[in-house]
Amino acid sequence: MEQIDLDCPVIVGAGLAGLTTAIELSPTPCLVVTAGALGMHTSTDWAQGGVAAAVGEDDSPKIHAQDTLAAGAGLCDPDAVRRITAQGPAAIEWLAGIGTQFDRRADGRLKRGLEGAHSRRRIVHAMGDKTGAELLRAVIAKAKSTPSITVWAHCRATEIVVEEGRLIGLRLQTSAGPLELRTGAVILASGGIGGLFSHTTNPLSSRGQGLALAYRAGATLRDMEMVQFHPTALDVGIDPMPLVSEAVRGEGAILVNEAGRLVLENPLAARDVVARAEWRMLQAGHKVFLDARERPGQQFHRLFPQITEKAAAAGLDPSKDFIPVRPAAHYHMGGVLVDHHGESTLPGLYAVGEVASTGLHGANRLASNSLLEAVVCGRWTGSALRGQFAHRFGCRLPAPPALNPLAAEPANPELAHIRATITAGAGVLRNKVALESTLAKLRPYLATDAGLVAHLLATAALERQESRGAHTRLDYPAADDEITHTLLRLPGQARQPLKQTALLMKDSLR
Ligand code: SIN
Repeated sequence: MEQIDLDCPVIVGAGLAGLTTAIELSPTPCLVVTAGALGMHTSTDWAQGGVAAAVGEDDSPKIHAQDTLAAGAGLCDPDAVRRITAQGPAAIEWLAGIGTQFDRRADGRLKRGLEGAHSRRRIVHAMGDKTGAELLRAVIAKAKSTPSITVWAHCRATEIVVEEGRLIGLRLQTSAGPLELRTGAVILASGGIGGLFSHTTNPLSSRGQGLALAYRAGATLRDMEMVQFHPTALDVGIDPMPLVSEAVRGEGAILVNEAGRLVLENPLAARDVVARAEWRMLQAGHKVFLDARERPGQQFHRLFPQITEKAAAAGLDPSKDFIPVRPAAHYHMGGVLVDHHGESTLPGLYAVGEVASTGLHGANRLASNSLLEAVVCGRWTGSALRGQFAHRFGCRLPAPPALNPLAAEPANPELAHIRATITAGAGVLRNKVALESTLAKLRPYLATDAGLVAHLLATAALERQESRGAHTRLDYPAADDEITHTLLRLPGQARQPLKQTALLMKDSLR
């Protein structure tokens, strides 16, 4: 296999977290590899919610931290929460500084939206419900004008190379054949796992590939069972499902069944609470709708142009019609266990964004905290590595090999089976019998990334014999305060405790 000696950080993934890391690394050279074309297949592009930040006069990072901890249901790392929420206003400033056009009032102050479980209006949007697309536009423009950043599109990361317990390289699949990059630092910024579920609001390419790479290389994964189901995915038979932002409920819309009966009193309760109420309504044979006819009513089109478009494509006008919705896999709180610099338990391997478990989200992510985390932690990781690679300041990377789009992955009938299996067994409501049957059905697919990640998720869900946040076990309906994190690591790996991790009372090493 051809080897290229890089001696600079390699970032896997070109969404908000990956590109923020790359920008912050400057003037240290770095290589960003992405499986598609730059700007494609990233969840950032689809994010409708905004960036949560305590920028209002009635707000403070302390109140933001309290809301985050309350939503996280006892599983957050309070120190990570405090540190990340404290950086909210600075993250907004940084994003504005690289050209993000945030929505502002006539007096120039930021507009602030409300989402579930936030006690203050603190969601900062850009272009209404197209925040993610605007953030992505800004970081791509900045990355393109930063000479230290090189992007190789159409490269799929296939293996992390480890020698004597530390990362020494990354293997790629490219149209020119397999390649091995020699480097001491790889940053996974590869996104989430929603594509593993039959109902998801994520790009279908988000199937936990970064988690599979990290696990196979020996890094520890934390709280893999913690999947957030968004209560209002537009249920019109499209895969993946268009999202109807929680901000719509923030503007007064309510959740009802076909008879107009409220699904729950408080449509802005924490996401897990709303998803469970809705799931029970669906299981009882009802349909669930978002009713935005009165509020935001005629304002809907102006406030939510993207959702208006998606609804119109399905023949619906949210200011006049009930909008059919259902819960769908939306965000993975679990991930690669990392410290405050984004480093995993495998020296040299870092993770930022959704693939990482920083301790911010706990058992239930507070809405719009993930774009905040992507920026804050991407900047921290970039700046920590900048110092480590100072000897490379200003160096140029080798010219990219001539790369073409990768051949489409062969149609994969296994994937449909994996998606149906994990959806049936590890959805909004879980139990031992269903999880055990899920594990048995997934066992034949362990050699595939999707099969492995789904299996790890179900393993952790079976292990966690309690209900907490987004993880609901019908056979263990109460929280058990003796249980903290689930940890999964490849059998036979030496223990590599993380410097700043919380005390782990329950350690499900496998
Ligand atoms: C939404 O707009 O409802 C999604 C925001 C988020 O998931 O953070």
